[in-house]
This record gives sequence, structure tokens and C-alpha cells, in this order.
Amino acid sequence: MQSFFSLAKSRRSIRSYNGASIPKHDLLRCAENARYAPSACNSEPWKFVIVDAPAQKEKIIKTVLSGTYKMNSFAQNAGAFIAIVSEKVKLPAFVGGVLRRTNFAKIDIGIACSHLVLSAQDLGIGSCILGWFNEKKLKRILKVPRSKRIELLIAFGYSTGKELPKRNLKHRNETISFNEYHKIYS
Ligand SMILES: Cc1cc2nc3c(=O)[nH]c(=O)nc-3n(C[C@H](O)[C@H](O)[C@H](O)COP(=O)(O)O)c2cc1C
Repeated sequence: MQSFFSLAKSRRSIRSYNGASIPKHDLLRCAENARYAPSACNSEPWKFVIVDAPAQKEKIIKTVLSGTYKMNSFAQNAGAFIAIVSEKVKLPAFVGGVLRRTNFAKIDIGIACSHLVLSAQDLGIGSCILGWFNEKKLKRILKVPRSKRIELLIAFGYSTGKELPKRNLKHRNETISFNEYHKIYS
């Protein structure tokens, strides 16, 4: 079993898939792990829609990731997708969000998304989070009510092994400090 450190470090966005399908139980495992993600007031404001049927995948490629969104057409060989739909938060999380001028559901979904992609990595499955997609068309394909939002779409698949761009992380002193916020002057 790999350590969390090596799991977190080795996960990268994969944009070249070999077209193989992903076993249902692995997709379920990823979604199951996402269910355990923390959420403000334990609202669990999410629904994970797993898309593995070839006909549904084809519709996504042809209409949701085309035209203006074609920068994400690399997902054409993905084995599956998971769409994350945001659901209502509990009243205290809503009130707290208004007072804090934030949206806890979106934060919660970001955390759940992290569980999804790290679980996939743990199972040897590559992934790429997609924030740029035709939401209106995706709602139609997945029969998501118009009033709801699909916050993220995640592509999953086995990597072709294509070399990845070098990781370009900010220096740790720029993103981590102890005890006080340190402004970096450059
Ligand atoms: C909220 C969010 C939206 C993203 N949307 C896209 C996207 O639409 N297309 C894409 O290729 N990558 C997308 N990414 C992936 C990022 O580009 C990627 O995580 C970042 O460049 C760091 O690279 P790494 O994941 O390989 O560490 C998104 C990531 C996040 C967290």
C-alpha cells in the first residue's frame, strides 16, 4: 500500500487515455470514497453521476466537450466520467455561508472531487478534472433538473503513458508559512 504522500505526489492530470473501460466496481469505489468526504454541517451537498455507457460517453464527447469546449476533447478516449451535481446544503451551512459570504457547497464539492481523483490514482486509474464544459448540454444528457448545477465533470481512464508536462509548483515558502501569513515580495 502506498503512503498518502506518494499518492498525492504522483497524481497528475492525465489527458491521454488508452480507451479501455473501467470496471464498475472501481468507479463505485471512487464514488464511495467521495461519500466519506467532510462537508460543512455534514450537508453532503452532492450527487455523483457515473457515466460509463458508451452511448452516453459519446454524447458527452460530441456535444459537451466540443466547439467552444474542444480544448477538453482529449477526453474522447476516457473510460468513464463522473459529473458532480451540487445539492442543497443544510440550513446552518446556508446561513453560515451567507454570513461568511462564501458557498460551502462548492468547497465541499472540491473536497469530494479530491477524494475521487486520489481514489482513482490509488487504483491505477488516471483522471482529469474538467471545469470547462457545456453544462446545459450535459444536464440534458444526464437528465439533471435545469434548476441544479453540475459543478465539475471528471474524466477517468488508463494513461497511454504519454510524457506529462513538468510539474510547476510554486516554491513551498510561497504557499506555506508557520504562525503568520508571510507576504512574498518579488
Ligand atoms: C476546478 C478545476 C478545473 C479544472 N478544469 C480543467 C479543464 O477544464 N481542462 C483541463 O485540461 N484541466 C483542468 N483542470 C486540471 C488542472 O489544469 C490541473 O490540475 C493543474 O494544471 C495541475 O496539474 P496536475 O493536476 O497534473 O497536478 C482543472 C482543475 C481543477 C481543480
